Amino acid sequence: MNEIRTGMGWDVHRLAAGRPLILGGVTVPSELGLDGHSDADILSHAITDALLGAAALGDIGMHFPDTDPKWKDADSLQFLVRTAELVRECGFAILHIDSTVILQQPKLKDFRQPIRESVARTLGVEIEQVSVKFKTAEGVGPVGLSLSAEAQAIATLAR
Ligand code: C5P
Ligand code: MG
Repeated sequence: MNEIRTGMGWDVHRLAAGRPLILGGVTVPSELGLDGHSDADILSHAITDALLGAAALGDIGMHFPDTDPKWKDADSLQFLVRTAELVRECGFAILHIDSTVILQQPKLKDFRQPIRESVARTLGVEIEQVSVKFKTAEGVGPVGLSLSAEAQAIATLAR
């Protein structure tokens, strides 16, 4: 019987003027963008941690430390590429990714397909294996006040 593993990932970054809003490698037009050492792509970071968690391979900071100048303004899709390699080296196949981005504005639903395509292409899976959902924070808390944005992900692996 297949060994099935699940892993969860979560990330938060501050929103700031003059920064791009990049989600799953897709740049979304927005007044505010995500601030951080890398490109601060919360969705890619949450999916990276979900994959690492499912394979019990530690976390994103262990593999891609934000103190390393190598990752300054890094394209976070690089983290996904390397992480997919790592989990496959452990004998796992990626069965499914589910995720949620929590961002007050702008509306993201028109970007669902390009984001799914970008993540799927990067991980080497089919678009049907990648789910991306969006929520506001109903105007409350730091996310609701557009001070920050969050992403959650669950990865399912088999070997
Ligand atoms: O947060 P709320 O329940 O009001 O979101 C309703 C719907 O709006 C979501 O299911 C999603 O389709 C869409 N949405 C979006 N972009 C956001 C937040 C929500 O497209 N930033
Ligand atoms: Mg991050």
